[in-house]
Amino acid sequence: AAQLNFPAGFTWGVSTSAYQIEGATSQDGRGTSIWDTFAHQPGRVVDGTTGDVACDHYHRYPEDVALMADLGVSAYRFSIAWPRIQPDGTSPANPAGLAFYDRLVDALLDRGIDPVATLFHWDLPQALEDRGGWLARDTAYRFAEYADLVARQLGDRVKLWITLNEPFVHMSYGYGMGVHAPGRMHLFDAFPVAHHQLLGHGLAVDALRAHTGNPIGIANNYSPVWLRGDTEADRAAAGAYDALHNRLFTDPLFGRGYPGELALDSAVTPDGPVVREGDLEIVARPIDFLGVNYYNPTGVRAPEEDGPLPFDLVPLDGYPTTNFDWPVAPDGLLDLLTTLRTTYGEALPPIHITEGGCSYDDVLTADGHCDDPERVAYLAGHLQAVREAMDAGVDVRGYFVWSLMDNFEWAEGFTKRFGLVHVDFDTQVRTPKTSYAWYRDLIARQP
Ligand code: FCB
Repeated sequence: AAQLNFPAGFTWGVSTSAYQIEGATSQDGRGTSIWDTFAHQPGRVVDGTTGDVACDHYHRYPEDVALMADLGVSAYRFSIAWPRIQPDGTSPANPAGLAFYDRLVDALLDRGIDPVATLFHWDLPQALEDRGGWLARDTAYRFAEYADLVARQLGDRVKLWITLNEPFVHMSYGYGMGVHAPGRMHLFDAFPVAHHQLLGHGLAVDALRAHTGNPIGIANNYSPVWLRGDTEADRAAAGAYDALHNRLFTDPLFGRGYPGELALDSAVTPDGPVVREGDLEIVARPIDFLGVNYYNPTGVRAPEEDGPLPFDLVPLDGYPTTNFDWPVAPDGLLDLLTTLRTTYGEALPPIHITEGGCSYDDVLTADGHCDDPERVAYLAGHLQAVREAMDAGVDVRGYFVWSLMDNFEWAEGFTKRFGLVHVDFDTQVRTPKTSYAWYRDLIARQP
């Protein structure tokens, strides 16, 4: 992959999130999150596991920071567990919770790694869920308060701030289909969750700005919609899916309001209209970068029979798949980046690819090796796509591999390994995979 040369200053990173790696879920005053509750309910997580211990990163972070330093990354994207900071979602800051992120941030800075912090990666304090979670407008204001507490403490030591991780996935999996915490199945009645998250995002941007001069963004999950079918109904289905997955969380950020076909503007709840006067200006607060999480494109056609959804999601033939059955399609990333650029034009800020990666059945051999050639191919192909998008004029500033290490993959438990580093979940032994060495060498070769 000699052609993989990126401009000086390009950010090379790795990504994780709190619930997926930290463990120590009841230590130092941490409150309960919706993921603690959900994972402990029988049948929710395929292998019956929880994040109670996960990678035990809460105790082993010095070892994990050392692994990142040896890897040579310039930045590390982690998330802050809201229930460590506000155990019940409203209380004053818990000093022991803040202290953990203080230690982590300082350890990173000591090794010359830029801390990149996500404020919300799905682990809502259970006490707020009990008051309606993101279906309740009040949660947006609570989120801004929490953002303020964190920003006061970490301010300029965090080099990039990310408000939310993948509000689309949290809405649809958590509140629409009930396969993620909090496990609610409201289908399209989950729409208020989109608006309340984005309102919280805008309010948090204001809260962060008061304490930092560093760039602020949001990490959205994007999937280019690939039409599979050629009828008018197929095209309408693809448009509907694109509005739901991609535009719902992007149009309003850049001042365009919500996609009309989703009728969010006229949505009402027993508490009144969902979108209120002045909200869209808050949602559209200027951001400094757009975080793009990309894994794969989605094949869409019209539904064959009437059901609750106005589209059918279909497999994309001709692409290899990961062990998650996700198609490996680097051309989807090129398509996505150039489409964002043409759709939003000058309104589009610089982009960071805040997540990209793949899961395979990586095996640790008896002599302690873990060879993952498919992951090397995945990353090489996707970085090539980023390079091509940059050559085509898209302003991409960094790439963060999901993930530094194998971890608790939500409803899939420990059955999906995404790491550059293999983790034995019984012994907590970390073993860098072939992809780790490949990424290290790639970074070392850059200007
Ligand atoms: C993304 C999530 C991340 C991880 C990867 C595989 O949707 O943001 O936490 O689960 O998928």
